[in-house]
Amino acid sequence: MSSLSLFKVGAVRNIQQLELKPHPRLNLIYGVNGSGKTSILEAAHLLGSGRSFRTSKTGSLISDDSPELSIFAETKEGRRIGLLKSRRQKPLLKLDLESQKNWDSVARILPVQILDSGSFLLLEGGPKSRRRFLDWGVFHVEHAFLNHWRTTRKCIANRNLLLKAPRLDEQQLQAWDRELCDASAEVDLARKRYFEEFLPTFGEVYGSIAENNAIDALSLQYSRGWDEDSELNTVLTECRRQDLKYGATQNGPHRADVLVKVGKSPAIDVLSRGQQKVLVSALKIAQGSLYSKAIQDKCIYLVDDLPAELDQENRAKILQKLLDLDAQLFVTCVELDSVKSCLQNPSEMTTFHVERGTITA
Ligand SMILES: Nc1ncnc2c1ncn2[C@@H]1O[C@H](COP(=O)(O)OP(=O)(O)OP(=O)(O)O)[C@@H](O)[C@H]1O
Ligand SMILES: [Mg+2]
Repeated sequence: MSSLSLFKVGAVRNIQQLELKPHPRLNLIYGVNGSGKTSILEAAHLLGSGRSFRTSKTGSLISDDSPELSIFAETKEGRRIGLLKSRRQKPLLKLDLESQKNWDSVARILPVQILDSGSFLLLEGGPKSRRRFLDWGVFHVEHAFLNHWRTTRKCIANRNLLLKAPRLDEQQLQAWDRELCDASAEVDLARKRYFEEFLPTFGEVYGSIAENNAIDALSLQYSRGWDEDSELNTVLTECRRQDLKYGATQNGPHRADVLVKVGKSPAIDVLSRGQQKVLVSALKIAQGSLYSKAIQDKCIYLVDDLPAELDQENRAKILQKLLDLDAQLFVTCVELDSVKSCLQNPSEMTTFHVERGTITA
């Protein structure tokens, strides 16, 4: 089971030095606004995935008066992961003292799921956040996926360069198209397979949290990024003029999406803010649940401001669903009681009080 037994954060936002010995199940992090709760989750997310969930500029996480941030974690199994990041240089990531070129291995050891105000992007944002959500699952469940996905990225980037050139190099374009079509078929297949397994798991989770009428009307549909009835090769040929006009490939796995609808309308147009939070929570919980079934491991949940937008009943239901996953949870809130009061067994947890970037209790 992926879980942290030791977590150290240095020079992340308002945190100078902080050390936690987390509980294997529930960690409740509480404190007033601006105390540093989200920053703790951000540090864990950065270590596990290489990126923050709040900003695309990792440099902004480094404390204003420090040249670099440092994050260290030890897992229950004794794996040690360390990260140093300065403003200008590339991050220095180590796994068991061995330098890592990318996050592939660390992401498999520290699979992190974030549930925060940014999770609403799954409903209100463009396809990118839904694709990222889907691909998180496929990456963990199908190990060959990453290489195929990288190939599609490389082919599309090269193809777009050719499309923008003053004279089209037909031969080169055909060569990239062939490679793109092969890799896209694999990416699509893996996504489809994952999505088919995801749907019933999601249905179970959502069905046990949401109201009955909401469950019946909701539908999720995977859209692969090009016409369902045509080969990508045909679509690329047919849409050549359009691609040349925009200087960019208009169809392909980089345009995949998961459509979330209530009846015929996008869910975002119909659901209340609290109902949206129930829905995105169910999506994230289902993903962790499927991950456990497929990998026989657990991912680590970072839940920022759980009480926000939720009434007491939904708060309790979501917290219980998260606890049922048997995963390690880091949950933040302003008032400790707002979460503690939802717990059936409040003794199975550790609480951390954050004040001005330090743990005081
Ligand atoms: N690069 C930085 N250097 C120093 N301090 C920073 C930096 N970036 C942000 N901060 C400050 O860090 C503090 C902690 O922010 P954080 O978002 O973690 O608080 P929080 O406890 O989650 O608050 P809230 O309850 O409002 O969500 C804030 O006061 C913020 O202004
Ligand atoms: Mg916060």
